Amino acid sequence: MGMVGFTVALMVIGVIISPCVHGNEFSDHKEIEVERLLKRLNKHALISIKSEDGDIIDCVPIHSQLAFDHPLLKNHNIQMRPNIIPESTSTYTKNYTNVTQAWHKSGICPENTVSIRKIKKEDILRSNFIENFGKKMTPGILLYGSSSVHEYAAMNCKKGKYFGTKFAVNIWKPKVQVPNEFSLAQTWLSSGVGTNLNTIEAGFQVLPSLYGDNNLRLFVYWTADNYQKTGCYNTNCPGFVQTSNRITVGGTFKSVSKYDGIQIAVLVMIWKDGDYWWLQINKELVGYWPAKLFSSLGKGATEVLWGGEIVNEKTGGKHTSTDMGSGHFADEGHRKASYFRNIMTVDKTNTLREPQGVYPTITNDNCYNIKEGRNGTSWGFNFFYGGPGLNAKCP
Ligand SMILES: *[C@@H]1O[C@H](CO)[C@@H](O)[C@H](O)[C@H]1NC(C)=O
Ligand SMILES: *[C@@H]1O[C@H](CO)[C@@H](O)[C@H](O)[C@H]1NC(C)=O
Ligand SMILES: *[C@@H]1O[C@H](CO)[C@@H](O)[C@H](O)[C@H]1NC(C)=O
Repeated sequence: MGMVGFTVALMVIGVIISPCVHGNEFSDHKEIEVERLLKRLNKHALISIKSEDGDIIDCVPIHSQLAFDHPLLKNHNIQMRPNIIPESTSTYTKNYTNVTQAWHKSGICPENTVSIRKIKKEDILRSNFIENFGKKMTPGILLYGSSSVHEYAAMNCKKGKYFGTKFAVNIWKPKVQVPNEFSLAQTWLSSGVGTNLNTIEAGFQVLPSLYGDNNLRLFVYWTADNYQKTGCYNTNCPGFVQTSNRITVGGTFKSVSKYDGIQIAVLVMIWKDGDYWWLQINKELVGYWPAKLFSSLGKGATEVLWGGEIVNEKTGGKHTSTDMGSGHFADEGHRKASYFRNIMTVDKTNTLREPQGVYPTITNDNCYNIKEGRNGTSWGFNFFYGGPGLNAKCP
């Protein structure tokens, strides 16, 4: 009896406070909105490939990919190859074969299609805010509570004019403590200040809230306005033009480095070829960011950095135990810590050069640190970075 009275009272309050957020009306409305968004984001696929990791890879005809929904890319003339690919004289790059993503086990996409990770209903529901789907979750705005903090261990290059970067990075599957955190290894190319900040970002990440699992994935990211109205991961919003039928941005890697065991390194190169910023992984072209998406990056980047970033949610008032890189400090060195090596920048003549005036950015070296490796070896300019987060010195 008491319960009935209680329920009635609650219902009355519910109706008064929020008459439209009640019962099926709300869920039906949300359902329709989600379906509409999925229809807009997932373009019609020629075939779809089911990956053992749970992803569905859509083979979308190259001309009908989401990128071309961008108002600046109407009637865009798709580029299949850059005019110039920066070449290094060193032989360390000669030994890299194509990367293998988990879905390749079931084949690759046909020619003239691009391999796109299908966005699922759960992906959108998880992201909380339908209109922000795929955007970078900035602190306090989307998923992160006010106590969450981004932490870094990265190397910066002195300010200048840069037209790209190339490096090898060994890939790991860092442990992420809670779903709203992430751990990544990436490069940032940026220019502009304030709301004019433009970035091009690419690397490898574990981000459970975006993908729904703890797998390591290739990612790309860009913003043209300091993460305000623009900015999203992968092909989740129009902008990045994929050209590959083999490499999926957002796709998972099966093979990663093992502590004191096999080391899996991947070559990443980003460079500006005329009006396009291209991305190449090992020796394969993935796609490009048209320079017209950007205000300041159209003229080149003024800053380049490389390294790791994590989000610390401070669960239970403690520092997160999310790993950066291998989860081991830089001091442990090769086969134990994560590295970036053979780091180069690209100048305006598309020549690869060793970075000059390099300095580290570290949030707290008791949690995650960074250490320059020996210069003048076959590893070129290199560094180790990472750490376990939570430990006696990082409570
Ligand atoms: C190139 O790859 C082969 C086969 O994986 C390996 O045996 C060899 O040591 C590699 N060479 C270099 C210079 O890394
Ligand atoms: C490697 O990638 C290129 C470009 O995507 C492709 O043409 C080639 O067939 C691939 N090779 C193998 C062995 O998969
Ligand atoms: C590495 O050593 C070379 C030759 O001594 C030098 O020119 C270059 O500036 C060094 N690079 C870095 C990043 O310290």
